[in-house]
Amino acid sequence: MGNIVYYSSSSENTHRFVRKLGFESLRLPVEAGGEPPVIEAPYVLVLPTYGGGGGKGAVPKPVIQFLNNPANRSLIRGVIAAGNTNFGPAYAIAGDIVSRKCAVPLLYRFELLGTAEDVENVRQGLVRFWTCSH
Ligand SMILES: Cc1cc2nc3c(=O)[nH]c(=O)nc-3n(C[C@H](O)[C@H](O)[C@H](O)COP(=O)(O)O)c2cc1C
Repeated sequence: MGNIVYYSSSSENTHRFVRKLGFESLRLPVEAGGEPPVIEAPYVLVLPTYGGGGGKGAVPKPVIQFLNNPANRSLIRGVIAAGNTNFGPAYAIAGDIVSRKCAVPLLYRFELLGTAEDVENVRQGLVRFWTCSH
């Protein structure tokens, strides 16, 4: 199994979702600035969408800083995005942006802290994903 790297702000919706998965995970710093962590094994990134509807700022800054490190960028294998469907076409677009920029699949989207079904889907999906030699 690979790792999960995730971002979650102080509202911690994504944090609660990731904790329920029960896999090993690394949380990125809540605030930008300072040295971002450097990861050494393949991972799936889980991130919420910010930006409030426009495309701008949809990917949280600490995630951008983390992915600006070429070593970190080379190890991303997939992305899972969170958001709120109230944002209409901008729902979970951070996932589309990272998927495009890093050329990795968008594996799943969920709202807020996710439902029990989301947790189960992602848990099983990730096991399958990592078993298929990613
Ligand atoms: C200022 C702000 C802007 C947001 N913008 C978007 C958005 O553009 N698209 C979207 O799907 N969700 C948006 N959301 C919803 C968050 O992605 C959602 O609340 C998420 O669960 C937050 O995760 P976190 O608590 O782990 O930080 C926004 C939330 C806030 C507070």
